Amino acid sequence: MASQERIRVAVVFGGQSTEHAVSCVSAASVLANLDPERFELLPVGITPQGSWVLGPADPATLAIEDRTLPTVTSGTSVTLPADPTSTNLVVLERGREGEILSAVDVVFPVLHGAFGEDGTIQGLLEMVGLPYVGAGVLASAVVMDKEFTKKLLRAEGLPVGTYEVLHRNDKTLTETQKERLGLPVFVKPARAGSSTGITKVTDWTKLDEAIAEARAIDPKVLVEAMIVGREIECGVLEFPDGHVEASLPAEIRIDENLDFYDFATKYIDDGAELDIPAKLDDEATEHLRTMAVKAFHAVDGQGLARVDFFVSPDGAITLNELNTMPGFTPTSAYPKMWAVTGVDYRTLLSTLIDTAIARGTGLR
Ligand SMILES: Nc1ncnc2c1ncn2[C@@H]1O[C@H](COP(=O)(O)OP(=O)(O)O)[C@@H](O)[C@H]1O
Ligand SMILES: [Mg+2]
Repeated sequence: MASQERIRVAVVFGGQSTEHAVSCVSAASVLANLDPERFELLPVGITPQGSWVLGPADPATLAIEDRTLPTVTSGTSVTLPADPTSTNLVVLERGREGEILSAVDVVFPVLHGAFGEDGTIQGLLEMVGLPYVGAGVLASAVVMDKEFTKKLLRAEGLPVGTYEVLHRNDKTLTETQKERLGLPVFVKPARAGSSTGITKVTDWTKLDEAIAEARAIDPKVLVEAMIVGREIECGVLEFPDGHVEASLPAEIRIDENLDFYDFATKYIDDGAELDIPAKLDDEATEHLRTMAVKAFHAVDGQGLARVDFFVSPDGAITLNELNTMPGFTPTSAYPKMWAVTGVDYRTLLSTLIDTAIARGTGLR
């Protein structure tokens, strides 16, 4: 295929969230695996300060090296004007202002967390009139917020755990709330990810410290009753014709000495193993896959999502959370689950882009 016929994909990564580095690692993997025959790649990094720069030509520079996390630093300054009459990536550099770098056909926002997975960049892309991979404004905003995710899931009759919300002015839990939850509890920022700011509290004297840690990230904090169970997740994928499927589930087995699935275990240490497919009987597997699709629709999901569950020893299933832009790092479950289900990484990425283009922007 001649190069001018290829689809121009802006892969956007980094960003202002606490998951900047994780996004870089995910993007490195996406850039390395998008089909070069079909797609022309435009890597666009967003610095931790929010500046858009042309990303490195070599995605390998975005990987984790010797436990050092990657960061988007400098590069040619670019922007995507919120003007639907042009979908050009425009240079902002002094002396080159307004120079058109390239027209863009579709955006793959490989961004996690605030300003990426929360509906804000999705809103910008709607204004630009550019199709993009993944959830729209509503689902992105809902799923970024663990309180509203639970509310929508519960409204559809899906099982969620017991929790309390501490808003900006709620200093701590009341005695009644403590009694309702029982120990241990998980204290977490309402709108974060990659386990940042999360503490497992086994003694009420440690609660306020945990709240402060979560508040360093988000003034709204969730305190959840601990759920004892295996951690199982399912990938959900929307195809260009609009039908939605769930992958085979994966089980995350973390090292027994670890408290929970924390940041280092997720991305740096080898403290977790994935069983794909999860060792579950056929009935439980199908039940989880059906629930994953239901959860996807409950939050008005689009494109893709990863749906995370706890499966308790008695077989009870509880939904933990969804992720509208799950990790795409080499150790991430989402692409691995699809590979085992029969959709290899390259096909998965092509499907995501084809679905984005088929859907377009605006009300749908
Ligand atoms: N209510 C809970 N009960 C048991 N474990 C939990 C609970 N909430 C969180 N965890 C543990 O903490 C991890 C991260 O929490 P999660 O809510 O998934 O936040 P994140 O968005 O950062 O991934 C989970 O994968 C799990 O290991
Ligand atoms: Mg999680």
